[in-house]
Amino acid sequence: MAKKKGEGYLSAKDSRRISKENRRVTKAFEKQHKRKNVPENEYTTQMHNPENTLEIDDLHSYFFTDVGTVKSVDGVSFDVPTGKTIGVVGESGCGKSVTSLSIMQLLQRPQGQIVSGEIRLNVGDKVIDIAKAPTEVMQHVRGNYVSMIFQEPMTSLNPVFRIGDQVDEVLLLHNAENKSKEEIKRRTIELLEMVGIANSEGVYKMYPHELSGGMRQRVVIAMALACDPKLIIADEPTTALDVTIQAQILDLLRQLKDRINSSIMLITHDLGVIAEMADYVVVMYAGKIVEQGTAEEIFSHPCHPYTIGLMASKPVVGKKVDKLYSIPGKVPNPVNMPDYCYFKDRCEMCLERCSGEYPHEISLSPTHKLSCYRYYDANKEGEING
Ligand SMILES: Nc1ncnc2c1ncn2[C@@H]1O[C@H](COP(=O)(O)OP(=O)(O)OP(=O)(O)O)[C@@H](O)[C@H]1O
Ligand SMILES: [Mg+2]
Repeated sequence: MAKKKGEGYLSAKDSRRISKENRRVTKAFEKQHKRKNVPENEYTTQMHNPENTLEIDDLHSYFFTDVGTVKSVDGVSFDVPTGKTIGVVGESGCGKSVTSLSIMQLLQRPQGQIVSGEIRLNVGDKVIDIAKAPTEVMQHVRGNYVSMIFQEPMTSLNPVFRIGDQVDEVLLLHNAENKSKEEIKRRTIELLEMVGIANSEGVYKMYPHELSGGMRQRVVIAMALACDPKLIIADEPTTALDVTIQAQILDLLRQLKDRINSSIMLITHDLGVIAEMADYVVVMYAGKIVEQGTAEEIFSHPCHPYTIGLMASKPVVGKKVDKLYSIPGKVPNPVNMPDYCYFKDRCEMCLERCSGEYPHEISLSPTHKLSCYRYYDANKEGEING
């Protein structure tokens, strides 16, 4: 870790030392990624529970930057059961996107790397550990088994190609199987209709700038669903859209998920969206999961002070308040995390023991888990959910 001279400054010598060390570390990771013809047993594994599509186990994803190592995801574990929707919430910068990019192996390389942990993905006939899979294998995994919908549709669409050509390309790349051009076009039109684009033949020939934001997002969803993925990761899919279109897009996602029985990992700031969509909720804070449980557990019995704060900062229809609650303070610097509970400095419910080491995770019910000293004694019978 970087030795500091004064507050927040690095000497040129320190900086050089860090860069050199970073190059050494990332070179070793890159070598692993670039391996060819890796025997399958090196990156396949078994699910711990066959009813899950994805199991993330103690995932650590770091960025090796010139100012030090950013521990963006620092020991995250959760499951995505088949056919269910998992909502991931947390403030800006808490590691939601880095978690989802890790699942796709799309971290900004070489500085961004999955350092340790397992990401087990059940693809039907085998289970792939994405943390160990070389790039060659990932190219097949992405799009075929996992696909991702990003916040801003314009970043996923190429402005100089027609919509039809772009969707065709996805189909061609992933399940060409000697399909003729006409067959692929027919399938593209079918997909566009499936996501609720009325004038599908017309849209097929249009460029992205000729569509509205909502239509573009539908096209992106059509591309993501083109190969019936097992897992759909939606990172803030509706943040750029107005509320009516947002409701339509969410409805659409839900219907499509049921049709192909896949799972959704939904990332958003919007607790309302989570309440409507998610079966399970994961609450992240500063690269760690502070609380997780079923949507009912998290919304009706939030226990971690951070979750309680998030819930209190959500407006409720019919409830009159002078001022919405906001959690005081800000997220700690990820390069220099404290060695006690990361939330302690902002917490209004601290105990004396909170100055001790980071609290380990305890279970209040088989699904409801959290890391907070306040519940260490209540941990016996799941009294809180009772
Ligand atoms: N390419 C990168 N290089 C260095 N640090 C990065 C990089 N990408 C992300 N980070 C850091 O990782 C941390 C987590 O970022 P992430 O994008 O996952 O946040 P998020 O929870 O998705 O936030 P938001 O809600 O704003 O999208 C942040 O501290 C961020 O600065
Ligand atoms: Mg993000």
